[in-house]
Amino acid sequence: MKPIASTRAAVRLTNVDKPAIEGGDPVRSDPLPIFKLSLTEAERAAVMGVLESGYISRGPMRDRLAEAFNAYTGAVHSLVCSSGTSALHLAVGALGLEPGDEVIVPSLSFVATAFAATYNDLVPVFAEVDAQTLNLDPADVARKITDRTRAIIPVHFAGQVCDLEALWVLAEAHDLALIEDAAHAAGARHSAGMVGTPLRSGIRHASCFSFFATKNMTSAEGGLVTTSDPDLFERMERLRAHGIVPLDDAPRASGFYDVTMEGFNFHLSDVNIALGLEQLKRLDEMNVRRKHHASRLTELLEGLEGIRLPETRADHVFHLFNILVEPERLSVDRDQIVRALLAEGIGVGLYYRPIHQFTYFKERFGTSDGMMPVTESLGDTIVTLPLYPLLSESDIDDVAEALRKVLGYYLR
Ligand SMILES: Cc1ncc(COP(=O)(O)O)c(C=O)c1O
Repeated sequence: MKPIASTRAAVRLTNVDKPAIEGGDPVRSDPLPIFKLSLTEAERAAVMGVLESGYISRGPMRDRLAEAFNAYTGAVHSLVCSSGTSALHLAVGALGLEPGDEVIVPSLSFVATAFAATYNDLVPVFAEVDAQTLNLDPADVARKITDRTRAIIPVHFAGQVCDLEALWVLAEAHDLALIEDAAHAAGARHSAGMVGTPLRSGIRHASCFSFFATKNMTSAEGGLVTTSDPDLFERMERLRAHGIVPLDDAPRASGFYDVTMEGFNFHLSDVNIALGLEQLKRLDEMNVRRKHHASRLTELLEGLEGIRLPETRADHVFHLFNILVEPERLSVDRDQIVRALLAEGIGVGLYYRPIHQFTYFKERFGTSDGMMPVTESLGDTIVTLPLYPLLSESDIDDVAEALRKVLGYYLR
């Protein structure tokens, strides 16, 4: 697509060319939300079926999503839980690490990635991401490994699988666990199989998924951990359920159990599981739509002056579609571009602000602005555009049109 140069000085802009935030007409009068949920009749019926069954919390649906996810991914064990956050909490908790042990995480992620360490009294050590793929940079991970490092938590950022091979090699060499934050990557593949299965054996490994409403598949709230490690699985099961284990030879009546560790209530309700099971059936189809929309949007945005697009590969499942504004090319900063796009009726967001720049991490772990130049520069320039199965071709045209208009106006 041919870039549109700024015409401010040369011609008087019409209301159609002028950004709405500067007094022009918006591209859309009915705003396009950053996310819109699509639910099928089968999904509604499954939820209603559970509601009417009388077993709405931990009933007969309990193991069905885990079994279906094992069948879908090829994972040995799946543990369904209340959220992606609790999935990470359980997986890291089940490693049984010592307080003060270190866990390497990207800072460009949702805060839950780092909380997986803090919930377990561990120290999150932030590593840079690659400026092109936005995925954890194995070279910086290697630099951050100390004799207290016990685990790495890479994120498959936006739905693109990280450099799992390089991280696996590091984990093998330094005897580290690798806990994948696969919140964005349900349905994605790595070089040896589906995300959720290990690259190979030899290290302690688990993959953690989120089924939040905006994710590639949803159970409204919900999460799931996969692992091939029976000990890790058994500890996660106990942690999920208040540390409870049934007593040997006890009557099959409630209350006959022991509590062997401090645990949580991280169960997912049958209502949520029913929705998740139906969504899993459509996951591939929904991911195909995400990929299709992403390639059309990429086509429309490629070459547009004032932004760059992250590098993407064919295995990307596009939970998010991000662009990076180039402040040196524009007369305004990223936040003004966001305001201008919102004024055009385009729902946009910021996924994510770097975690190490949040007050909590500065106060508790002494992180500071300036310590991670690559991540911070991405955090200052990233803009997340709408990308979900329900988008129409004309919605996508509107997103591109709004960007062309706004960038054209603010180009230096
Ligand atoms: C990268 C990442 N990790 C973890 C989570 C936590 O998932 P949940 O919202 O299901 O707790 C999210 C969700 O937004 C996420 O984006």
